[in-house]
Amino acid sequence: MRYLYLLLILFIGTLAYSQPARKTEDFDAGWKFFLGDEPQAKNTMFNDSQWRKLDLPHDWSIEEKFDEKAPTTQAEAGLPAGIGWYRKTFTIPAPAKNKHVFIDFDGVYRTSEVWINGHLLGKRPNGYISFEYELTRYLKFGQRNIIAVKVDNSEQPNSRWYSGSGIYRNVWLVTTGNTHFSHWGTFVSTPQVTREQAVINIKTNIQNALVQRTDLKITVLDAQKKVVANRVIALRDTAVDQNITISKPILWSVDHPYLYQVKLQVVGQRVLDNEIINTGIRTFNFDADKGFSLNGERMKIKGVCLHHDAGALGSAVHTRAIERQLQILKAMGCNAIRTSHNPPAPELLDLCDRMGFLVMDEAFDMWKKKKNKFDYSKDWDKWHVQDLQDQVLRDRNHPSVFIWSIGNEIREQFDSTGISIGRELVGIVKSLDKTRPVTCALSDADPKKNFIYQSGALDLVGLNYHIETYADFQKNYPGQKFIGTEQMSALATRGHYDMPSDSIRRWPKDGKTPLKDGNPDLTVSSYDNVSAYWGSTHEETWKIIKKYDFLSGLFVWSGFDFLGEPVPYLWPARSSYYGIVDLAGFPKDAYYMYQSEWVNKPVLHLFPHWNWQPGKMIDVWAYYNNADEVELYLNGKSLGIKKKTGDDLHVMWRLKYEPGTLKAVSRKNGKTILTTQRVTAGVPYQIKLSADRSKIKAGGKDLSYITVSVLDKQGNPVPVADNLIKLNVEGAGVLKGVDNGCQTNLEPFTAQQIKLFNGLALGIIQSNSKAGRIIVNATGNGLQSARIMISVN
Ligand code: GAL
Repeated sequence: MRYLYLLLILFIGTLAYSQPARKTEDFDAGWKFFLGDEPQAKNTMFNDSQWRKLDLPHDWSIEEKFDEKAPTTQAEAGLPAGIGWYRKTFTIPAPAKNKHVFIDFDGVYRTSEVWINGHLLGKRPNGYISFEYELTRYLKFGQRNIIAVKVDNSEQPNSRWYSGSGIYRNVWLVTTGNTHFSHWGTFVSTPQVTREQAVINIKTNIQNALVQRTDLKITVLDAQKKVVANRVIALRDTAVDQNITISKPILWSVDHPYLYQVKLQVVGQRVLDNEIINTGIRTFNFDADKGFSLNGERMKIKGVCLHHDAGALGSAVHTRAIERQLQILKAMGCNAIRTSHNPPAPELLDLCDRMGFLVMDEAFDMWKKKKNKFDYSKDWDKWHVQDLQDQVLRDRNHPSVFIWSIGNEIREQFDSTGISIGRELVGIVKSLDKTRPVTCALSDADPKKNFIYQSGALDLVGLNYHIETYADFQKNYPGQKFIGTEQMSALATRGHYDMPSDSIRRWPKDGKTPLKDGNPDLTVSSYDNVSAYWGSTHEETWKIIKKYDFLSGLFVWSGFDFLGEPVPYLWPARSSYYGIVDLAGFPKDAYYMYQSEWVNKPVLHLFPHWNWQPGKMIDVWAYYNNADEVELYLNGKSLGIKKKTGDDLHVMWRLKYEPGTLKAVSRKNGKTILTTQRVTAGVPYQIKLSADRSKIKAGGKDLSYITVSVLDKQGNPVPVADNLIKLNVEGAGVLKGVDNGCQTNLEPFTAQQIKLFNGLALGIIQSNSKAGRIIVNATGNGLQSARIMISVN
């Protein structure tokens, strides 16, 4: 019986592994973790039975307590870092012994060392780079294998923002036959594109292609999986370069992100390997006079900068968390993302391809000259060539990627090494991809002084801030093409304002003194009138970018608040104030300024809320579009009609507060377009829960974001509520994190309760592996509780 059973296993194994094509398995489940150093853990015999069990991606810093004294400093949110070890035991069936087996890490922060069965595979110090190791020669097929990973993030500080610590991106196990496509060896581009036809160029590289007679079969499929072109070529070389023409291509654009699939198969007696690359057929151009065009149509790049964290989830990659961020930005009209200041998770690029965002893919925040004592400058000499090559090789197939940035505010711009290193880096990029322009985000806007610009190697002049120079760009940089790589750094919390909007305030006034949180100048930053002294308000910069055609667009600093860099606020601030959207994903009011400018559908946004001390003078603003005018009413009485004139981006009324209903009506040609109102709320009475998705997938990776608010007895949202709400989650999921968007909240994100901040809080629910129902119960002192159900399928 036992013998039969073994035979059956062998048979199934043989079947599985005689399947020719490559297998890419999610390798995230079933790891062991230890926080601390345990040098013996690299050895096969090490006993990890006491270690914690977890699934990747994992960021250990986010699980810790905020600590003002943490060596990471406030710049990294005051969350501890240190050293951690991961181990995983796995078996590869015996019949796979003729296969090649690889492990792919999408990203580990920071220095990783990886051992398989006690053999060191390698060390990578760049916390944002993806890398692969071949395991084959060290594997014991049909037996237990141990992979051990040491993650060292102990040298601090090493970052200007929150990095997170651990194997924070996905890990994959890849099995191929002897003849297989090289890792990142395929490059699909679209060198010629018209509405009539497009040429798809396919370059690929096949390992051991010539050990037998093999063909390469290329199939191009449209989005409905219909074959639109195919070709078979006999392989005479390991490298292939082929053009395939498609007639009447459907072009990829930000509004219509149409994807084709290029399917490659190496075929001998049977299929030996296959690979599918998503590709978008598009063409774009930067013009020194006319700015940017996509598929021949002029458009502004309406971009935002994003760091990689997902608020309460830290830097651990959750595809749904990235997708949610992008959905929120898409609804604002944003069409481009800058991956500041490092290569992103591959999932971000897949989503941008699918959802229609252009991406400026950035490599470095520093070169050889450091910004932090222990940052990547230490590793520059040994690693920058490899890391930059790996980034370009990994990302060059994404239609969303349209600019490479070789750095952000690099210190070498101030001395002549900027010339040589600038040239070297552009050369590396161009040797692997000539289809996209290369820029560098420069903070010195003087063309005569900036050595990176002086290198002459940049295709686009990328400027951070210095908007006062933009009108003269063509004079200062004759014949050059502009991209606004980073702008604004406006400061705001979400939801509450307490100062007049007459003046634009910059921090710090003397350029030096940081102000303490609690200072009335800053805690309640007003209606888009506070910014870092090097930056501007949202309106100031957008007006300029909008005005001049040669300014191709911008990347607002920043799309979302992010963990760390709460500059200029002192502790307890631990996350940034720069976002258009807060850390929890709730839009600040500036969001609607952009929306009114960047989307076609009608927008009317009225603020602030309407719960003040009677008699207080309040400025009321409205952002609107698609209308000629807005009329404001307080308790039914008109306070007058306002119209934007010139380059205005909002209208304003100044009035004495009295409780009641503030209503705005936008009209075009006398016809009402939209109506909105703010109602004075009474005391908190009941909790309200709403889920962004009430159906999520089983498998332990999907998320539902629950917004928590409180209503008064009449059902009006209470905009100033700060009630403490307890969340109890039962059934097929867990409460993964809580947040309220408040930069000074030092409660851990892993708590089971959360105080509302200006009326709102967030609970993030993650599914378990099995299907079922999740019940979320919310309770708070003196409040009617609320309950919501999420189904998990
Ligand atoms: C820029 C920098 C960003 C961020 C920002 C804050 O100079 O590139 O990373 O630090 O300032 O204003």
